[in-house]
Amino acid sequence: MLLKNKVIFLTGGTEGIGLECARLYHAAGAQLSIISNTEKSIVEARERLPDNDIRFINADVSIAADMQRAIAETVAHFGKIDVIHNNAGISNPSKAIHETTEDEWNRLFDVNVKGIYNTTRFGIDELKKTRGNILHTSSLVGDIGQEIHAAYSATKGAVNALTKSMALDYANFGIRVNAVAPAGVWTPMLRTWSKQQPDSTTIENYLDQIHALGYCPEGDVVADACLFLVSDQARFITGCILPVSGGAELGYRRVINQSNQ
Ligand SMILES: NC(=O)c1ccc[n+]([C@@H]2O[C@H](COP(=O)([O-])OP(=O)(O)OC[C@H]3O[C@@H](n4cnc5c(N)ncnc54)[C@H](O)[C@@H]3O)[C@@H](O)[C@H]2O)c1
Repeated sequence: MLLKNKVIFLTGGTEGIGLECARLYHAAGAQLSIISNTEKSIVEARERLPDNDIRFINADVSIAADMQRAIAETVAHFGKIDVIHNNAGISNPSKAIHETTEDEWNRLFDVNVKGIYNTTRFGIDELKKTRGNILHTSSLVGDIGQEIHAAYSATKGAVNALTKSMALDYANFGIRVNAVAPAGVWTPMLRTWSKQQPDSTTIENYLDQIHALGYCPEGDVVADACLFLVSDQARFITGCILPVSGGAELGYRRVINQSNQ
């Protein structure tokens, strides 16, 4: 029960990586506010998750008023916030930068980057009271880049910079700020992405091969790392961007290495 008596504000907790985090945080004793901007995914997640100690809030992380309301609702219901996990994110479109429309560019930054600004603006005073912590779901592409995903990669580069800068700004308050950086994870987001690729038939094989450990995982591997980072087990870790990537950054395109063996 690593998270007994902890209240976690989790954005994007209705699907994919966030849903696995919600499951694990709850099993570890946490009370949860789960934020999503689609009612359908909230209804489905409600069926998949336990019905006690979880509050679902339909809100969009990119809208300041929505986050102000969601934070206030969480405090009114649970009395405090110990952890803000900024997990909600989008990756569309799969395009080079010159093909990315201004609306697509703005939406990516509004959700993936401004979303963090919004939850921090309205949530930081609560974390000061609990000496809590913040976790971001970043991506390996924020460090190493990605083909036909320049704008998305740029948002995750910004998340990495925010992780370090926020860690410095809030350390005096005893607030830790960390990130996890997955490579590929089978979620609804990745399934959509794989269908958009020029050669979608070989994509599953490709996704297995980019991970040095030889397979593309499900969200549970990321949730295990998140549980550690938001818990007191990680009490002396801040400003850390933890790859949860099966070593993808060590031997990107494992298939090339194999042909040399
Ligand atoms: N799946 C991968 O391969 C992968 C790899 C690296 C990083 N990531 C990152 O992990 C995070 C989760 O990705 P996923 O693959 O689980 O995605 P997903 O699409 O499966 O789930 C995204 C979740 O975020 C919510 N969401 C999306 N936009 C929102 C908004 N504006 N306001 C509130 N909620 C919103 C959705 O309702 C959903 O619950 C993202 O930040 C993503 O960039 C994913």
